[in-house]
Amino acid sequence: MALFSGRSGTAQPEIFAILDVGSSKVVCFIGQQEENTGVRILGAGYQASAGLKAGAVVDMEAAEHTIRHAVEKAERAAGFAIQSVIVNVSTRSLKSRHINVETKFSSAEVADKDLRRVIDTAMVEFAEPDQAILHALPLNWTLDGERGIRDPRGMFGSHLGVDMHFVTANVGVLRNLSHCIERCHLRIEGMIASPYAAGEAVLVEDEFDLGVTVIDMGAGITTAAVFRDRTLAFVDAISVGGKNVTSDIARGLTTPWEAAERIKTIYGSALESPGDDGQTVPCPPMGAEDELHQEPLSALTSIVRSRAEETFEILRDRFKAAGIGDFAGRRIVLTGGAAQLSGAVQLAEYIFGKRVRVGRPHGLFGLPDTMTGPDFAVAAGLIKHVFQEKREAISGPPDLSGRRIRQRRYAGGNVVRSFKWFKDNF
Ligand SMILES: Nc1ncnc2c1ncn2[C@@H]1O[C@H](COP(=O)(O)OP(=O)(O)OP(=O)(O)O)[C@@H](O)[C@H]1O
Ligand SMILES: [Mg+2]
Repeated sequence: MALFSGRSGTAQPEIFAILDVGSSKVVCFIGQQEENTGVRILGAGYQASAGLKAGAVVDMEAAEHTIRHAVEKAERAAGFAIQSVIVNVSTRSLKSRHINVETKFSSAEVADKDLRRVIDTAMVEFAEPDQAILHALPLNWTLDGERGIRDPRGMFGSHLGVDMHFVTANVGVLRNLSHCIERCHLRIEGMIASPYAAGEAVLVEDEFDLGVTVIDMGAGITTAAVFRDRTLAFVDAISVGGKNVTSDIARGLTTPWEAAERIKTIYGSALESPGDDGQTVPCPPMGAEDELHQEPLSALTSIVRSRAEETFEILRDRFKAAGIGDFAGRRIVLTGGAAQLSGAVQLAEYIFGKRVRVGRPHGLFGLPDTMTGPDFAVAAGLIKHVFQEKREAISGPPDLSGRRIRQRRYAGGNVVRSFKWFKDNF
């Protein structure tokens, strides 16, 4: 697969490029796997977003312009042009579906072909025309009703079952995103759920093993991923982010949006502190004829806190409804620009009742200093993901045709759809 042109005319199959298409910025990384050391970034660039909202294209021309600029910056830094990218998906339609499938198999010993057939059956059974499958992960195998089998190959039995985890997103949103990227003359090599990528960038081995939840707090959207037994077990997304906090401040303190954004990063906190009493925040006026006014710091904190609290509470309730509970381990890692909000960690600890930390990307070399914060976790994770060994049943770009996969024939076996998978299994 020749991805690149330029560079002495030779194909560099081990070089890949990624795009993190966000509501506030678009990031492009070009990276290469280095033997025994990890991924080296050859070029990186980002551009403030226009025409993009919560992972969806809302203005094709403006979004195209943004993506082109981000890519050009990375290409200039790398010294060559790219032809294809792996792109993130962070729309609010991002969802997890869990399906349990069981089929009979003829030979006594489980072989690769039996695994493939059970997974194929699950894929057929899943098919929903308006949802594209981004990831298909076998979480757990069963053999003649025996649960918890990590790898059934070479074992004996007659009925093989699998708990499949499908991560899906709305086909229409993905079509627009891919159309926009193709207008920039870039081919899409793959699409990866944002919180999945963020996890791969920031988590450490113990967290992957023991179970952990990653919450990527962006400008327009907050997405979450639960990892367990080193596998992605659940994702969710809500279209609330840092931009909502800024809008609340602008409205609450009667100040322009840009001023509210600045006030948020300088004075904003999700927690009151003892010294806050009597302190004020300078707020620029809305119109030219008004004057700068002072507002109590406590008013700002209360605005920021209620939005942050609401965001965490919605997620907590969603996790509960999905039956995740303690399945996800005792730790939460926050990524995304909005994770830098003062007091966010403590507030999350209080609401979820878990240990919380902010995650920064690790395991990449040559990343510019300005791109090592939690707001670059998704981009870093996308490029790391490309080079990692996968436990996924499908690869390549998702099928965006919207057609129903034709029911393939298979010999017997019952198929149980379980959307309350966590509740049923733990
Ligand atoms: N120090 C800070 N305190 C509070 N919020 C911050 C801080 N720094 C950045 N932010 C917020 O982080 C958000 C941007 O985060 P990020 O770059 O992860 O978003 P994005 O990836 O472009 O958007 P999305 O993922 O939602 O599509 C903005 O809302 C910004 O106000
Ligand atoms: Mg983002």
